[in-house]
Amino acid sequence: MMNILTIMGTKIDEGSENYKEVMNAFNILAHRTAQNSVYSSVGLGFLTLTPEYKKTLKYLRELVCDLIKKNPSLKAESDEYEDGKQALVNLAVKAMKQGLFTASDVEIESFTMIAASYETSAIVVYSALVLLAMHPEIQERAFEEVRSVFPDGITSVEYDDLKKFPYLDMVIAEALRLAPPIPYIGRQAINETELRPGVTIPKEMQVIIPIFELHRRKELWGPEAARFNPENFLPGNIAKRHPCAYMAFSKGPRNCIGVRYAEFTLHVLLITLLRSLKFSTTFKYDDIVFMPNVTLSYKVEPLLSIEVRA
Ligand code: HEM
Repeated sequence: MMNILTIMGTKIDEGSENYKEVMNAFNILAHRTAQNSVYSSVGLGFLTLTPEYKKTLKYLRELVCDLIKKNPSLKAESDEYEDGKQALVNLAVKAMKQGLFTASDVEIESFTMIAASYETSAIVVYSALVLLAMHPEIQERAFEEVRSVFPDGITSVEYDDLKKFPYLDMVIAEALRLAPPIPYIGRQAINETELRPGVTIPKEMQVIIPIFELHRRKELWGPEAARFNPENFLPGNIAKRHPCAYMAFSKGPRNCIGVRYAEFTLHVLLITLLRSLKFSTTFKYDDIVFMPNVTLSYKVEPLLSIEVRA
């Protein structure tokens, strides 16, 4: 929910009733989106417009509208906070004051950003910790890198610091490869499109792009494609692969617009966690069963033991 702070400029305390309600509502929304994509393909999408879904949507819309109304930039002359920082909603309100956005645009933009960001980053951090707990030697190497940059512990992580973690970059990319938070995306062909001789997508056909499977294809990632191996992202190895072999953030004009923000938060969270804590688990890597839904989940979530580093 850190994202709510950056997007809406308001904090929702973790563990509070409000927090649980919001999480539950977004889970219902994600579940319905998954159902809808399957039912719609056979013309039965209307079946997913259940009273529970309508109630949840109403709740979330009211929540977002309320957060917008509470935002000081709506009333203030200036749309900046005192410290000069701006939440996304401030930019949307600024666009509204300039006549570029309607009130409804502000609501839709805010809603989209919360929905697109709320779970994705959390899943990657969890997956990275699970994978590191299962591969202690890789965790130690990542820890040593973090310790070499922050020998005396961490007080703050600045944007420029992010250049100092080539190994952690590779660990994060590899976690996103094996556990892409958005495992499938869909597109509709605007025109008849020839992918290669003999393979043509007819106009208006809907296509699912299975990122999860793409990221494990042996032709692209080698015979050990299913193993956790950050070396897959050594610059020399990236150069040898097709640029679309890896697309955790999608590709092209409709790719993830939060990619830089996501990468920044992932680094800050993992740097901070790895510097002071050590993760282990008895759960075996080969026993992981992923449940590719709208967002990726685990059939059984591996439990982690956490030890504070001396
Ligand atoms: C690790 C974290 C994240 C991953 C893996 C991820 C992945 C993706 C993917 C695969 C798409 C394409 C979806 C599609 O084509 O159907 C997407 C779109 C999008 N993402 Fe992210 N995302 C992440 C975090 C974020 C964050 C933090 C934000 C906002 C702060 C965000 C905002 C968006 C938005 C608004 C879109 C829709 C863009 C459009 O349709 O033009 N994402 N993301």
